[in-house]
Amino acid sequence: MIRKIGVLTSGGDSPGMNAAIRAVTKCALGNGIEVMGIKDGYRGLIENKIVPFDKSSVSDILSRGGTILGSARLPEFKEDATVVKACEILRANEIDALVVIGGDGSYRGAKALTDKGINCIGLPGTIDNDISGTDLTIGFDTALNTVVECVDKLRDTSSSHHRCSLVEVMGNHCGDLALYSGISCGAEIVITSETGYDEEEILDQLRYLDNLGKNHAIIVISEKICDVEGLAKKVSASTGFSGRATVLGHIQRGGSPTPNDRVLASRMGEKAVDLLVSGIGGHCVGTLNNEIVSLPINEALAMPKTSRKGLYRLFERLV
Ligand code: F6P
Repeated sequence: MIRKIGVLTSGGDSPGMNAAIRAVTKCALGNGIEVMGIKDGYRGLIENKIVPFDKSSVSDILSRGGTILGSARLPEFKEDATVVKACEILRANEIDALVVIGGDGSYRGAKALTDKGINCIGLPGTIDNDISGTDLTIGFDTALNTVVECVDKLRDTSSSHHRCSLVEVMGNHCGDLALYSGISCGAEIVITSETGYDEEEILDQLRYLDNLGKNHAIIVISEKICDVEGLAKKVSASTGFSGRATVLGHIQRGGSPTPNDRVLASRMGEKAVDLLVSGIGGHCVGTLNNEIVSLPINEALAMPKTSRKGLYRLFERLV
């Protein structure tokens, strides 16, 4: 039986993490389980930055972006000695189990703690939508909305000036933010790790669009693929469009979560508590076909990411 659980957020923050913290806290308290908020991810855990949570700790946070707990990346958590230290601190605080909200690095930490006897559940909190075992991650929908709002604005000014806007979006190595926003905004070109990067092909396509009489072009590019400023210069030099690069950056990580993210985070938070109450650890929570599911973290980490071939084909048909 568990009496006290901890909750922490880890890795890059994402809108909706607060909604998940709130759901975990309220569902646990409702089950008569004490809740401890762990500040600043695994780093705060090993530094014993742990505070008791009650209902008031999570009031007025549902609509707020970021994470009230703070987050951090802690590469040392891969080392056994760090995990052992974290277990000691959890036991000293009489914390029986833990909910970890973060990306795949955070999942690995949760699995390592579970292997040492502290049941942990992982919730997928990242704007990248790059976690297997779930159709959606907490924060992706909000980030997508932010990107779409920005690209729609860029389209207005691009059409006034016969420009090509090259918009770099986040996603780590996952192309979902670029692909989904490309479809949502009617971009002319989407470039991701899945499409590959062929500079001459891109410039040819822009010349073709210019010859067709288009007055603007939008290219959405995943981060970590090319130097967008350099590409914009080449666009200006060798096509009829004048190229302008915009790196959206961390603006994509902020903002009030969309209702979809709030509901998703709340459902996942509830599931995490239910799993811990039934004695399950080392699992992560996901949504598949709009059902909330759970599976062992190891299985999720080993699963190949769902292919987006159909969506890339759709994008091509809509250009
Ligand atoms: O994982 C979320 C994410 O925003 C990625 O999209 C991006 O590559 C990375 O984090 C940026 O990390 P940082 O905030 O540490 O610069």
